[in-house]
This record gives sequence, C-alpha cells and structure tokens, in this order.
Amino acid sequence: MTAPAEAPADAAATGESSPRPIHVRPARPADLPALVPLLLRLKRLNEEFDPLLRVRDDAEGQAREVLAASLADPKAVVLAAEGVGPDRDRIVGLVHAIVRERPFYQPTREGVILDIYLLPLYRRHGVGEYLLKETSEALRARGAGVVIAEFPAQNEIASRFYAKRGFRPITARHARSL
Ligand SMILES: CC(C)(COP(=O)(O)OP(=O)(O)OC[C@H]1O[C@@H](n2cnc3c(N)ncnc32)[C@H](O)[C@@H]1OP(=O)(O)O)[C@@H](O)C(=O)NCCC(=O)NCCS
Repeated sequence: MTAPAEAPADAAATGESSPRPIHVRPARPADLPALVPLLLRLKRLNEEFDPLLRVRDDAEGQAREVLAASLADPKAVVLAAEGVGPDRDRIVGLVHAIVRERPFYQPTREGVILDIYLLPLYRRHGVGEYLLKETSEALRARGAGVVIAEFPAQNEIASRFYAKRGFRPITARHARSL
C-alpha cells in the first residue's frame, strides 16, 4: 500500500494507549460547516490510494450537497462524533450511511456505510468500533437487514478495520480509465 499522507499522524495516534472518549450524536444541518472538511479529508485520503479516485475541483460544494441531502433523508444516517476536553463541541469524526433496496436478494434492504472518518488523533482507541455499532443499529432501525461498507479496494486501514469486525467482500467493482 502506498503510505497515505496521514500515516505519520496515524503512527502518533498508535503510540497512545489511553482511551480517547467521544460523544456521538445524529448530525444536524448546523453541523455542515464542520462535516464538509472531514468528508473532503476522507475523499483526499481515497485519492492517495488510487488515481481513479481523483478529487474534483468542486468537491467541497458536492460534499455540502450530498450531506445536506442525507440530513434531510429519514432513511439516511449522518452521525457526528464530538471530542471531549479541549475538543469539546468540536466535531472530530463523521459517519454517512444510506439504506438501499435490494430488488433481487434477501434481506431486501441493505445499510451502506459510504463514509466513516475520524481525525487521526482519535483513531485506534475503539472509537471506530463504537461508531460502527451505533451506525449498524441506526441502519437496522431504518429497515436494513445487512450492513455493507464501501471503501477503496486499496485502503488497507478500512479492509483491516472491517475484516476484524466480521465483514467480508461480497461484490467487487473493477475499473479502468476510458
Ligand atoms: C476507519 C476508522 C474510522 C477506524 O476507526 P478507529 O477508531 O481507528 O478504529 P478502532 O480503534 O475501533 O479499530 C482499530 C482497528 O482498525 C484498523 N486500523 C485502524 N487504523 C489503522 C492503520 N493506520 N493501519 C492499519 N489498520 C488500522 C485495525 O484493524 C485496528 O485494529 P488494531 O489496532 O488491533 O490493529 C479510522 O481509522 C479512520 O478514520 N481512517 C481513515 C478514513 C478511512 O479509511 N475510512 C474508511 C473508508 S470509508
């Protein structure tokens, strides 16, 4: 895996052993100015994994639109993770998930985690696992019978994170430039 730009911060986070508690709550429209930069950080991280995921120039506006649409969609899940202590009331992570119909398969609805992002200092303290649990419950409450995570195939952090929690590949998307 090509080392992403965030790797040094990841390493710093790994060196800490104390738990870093957070407060998770449903996001609201007023959170958009804080959520958009986090979603962009995730998309820029994805870009480092694969040149076919090059971030568009208008990605910031797109991020705002996509999140605003999901915030208004009762079937979507947008969670904000707030820090504690000096980071109190500061949003340090987000989850963005939707519910999709499955016309051919059972269960008939899937909850899809499109985006999950935590600032590097908050990683590797079990926060991701907690976010996954909260998200899965929220998706189940919206009718999902299976939870699916979408992430770049080259993102080893995500592969390991999900594999450790019982996720396995079920479909693949293969691409080439035209
Ligand atoms: C994915 C993410 C939300 C997980 O949150 P987290 O709080 O670090 O996860 P947890 O502490 O609950 O679990 C840690 C596990 O995740 C995986 N992981 C986390 N950071 C990792 C890293 N830098 N390298 C490899 N695996 C990593 C490992 O399986 C790790 O378990 P381990 O510590 O026993 O090796 C967080 O790492 C993140 O925001 N990453 C960047 C964005 C991203 O890749 N999102 C997923 C694609 S949409």
